[in-house]
Amino acid sequence: MASEKLLKELNDQFNFELLSGYYYMAMAAYCESEDLSGFANFFIVQAQEEYTHAMKFFDFINDMGGRVTTQAMEEPKNDYDSLVETFEVALDHEKLVTSKINKLMDLAREENNYPSISFLQWFIDEQLEEENSMETILIKLKRMDGNFQGIYMLDKELAARTLEPIE
Ligand SMILES: [Fe+2]
Repeated sequence: MASEKLLKELNDQFNFELLSGYYYMAMAAYCESEDLSGFANFFIVQAQEEYTHAMKFFDFINDMGGRVTTQAMEEPKNDYDSLVETFEVALDHEKLVTSKINKLMDLAREENNYPSISFLQWFIDEQLEEENSMETILIKLKRMDGNFQGIYMLDKELAARTLEPIE
């Protein structure tokens, strides 16, 4: 079992993971409007991944005897000036997610809630990967400085991304 406070924070994170997926779907839509279907695919797969993250929270909250509730979602940013901007926003968003996961871990530790500590460790590791993947693409795009050939090559590379099964 977990405290009411911890269960509430876990439920907030469940909702935030869904919101993250919604953000990435908006980015996918922008990329598609720019005829960059590989970049769009990257963000669609990212949105699918966020859904799997949300479901991990869904299952865990239920396992801990909590009650999952859904919340209203804010409208994501739909308009971007450039690919660079989408990845800047994506990286900032992942940093925000990391800070939320870290706070959850702090709370789980304060309460000596070992199942939650174990559960959240997976997300701590995952966030390092998430930030790295957004940052790597952002660095590449900045180096390309709008070079169409480079963007085209990266678009082809990102078209191959598929959803990896999570344990
Ligand atoms: Fe996530």
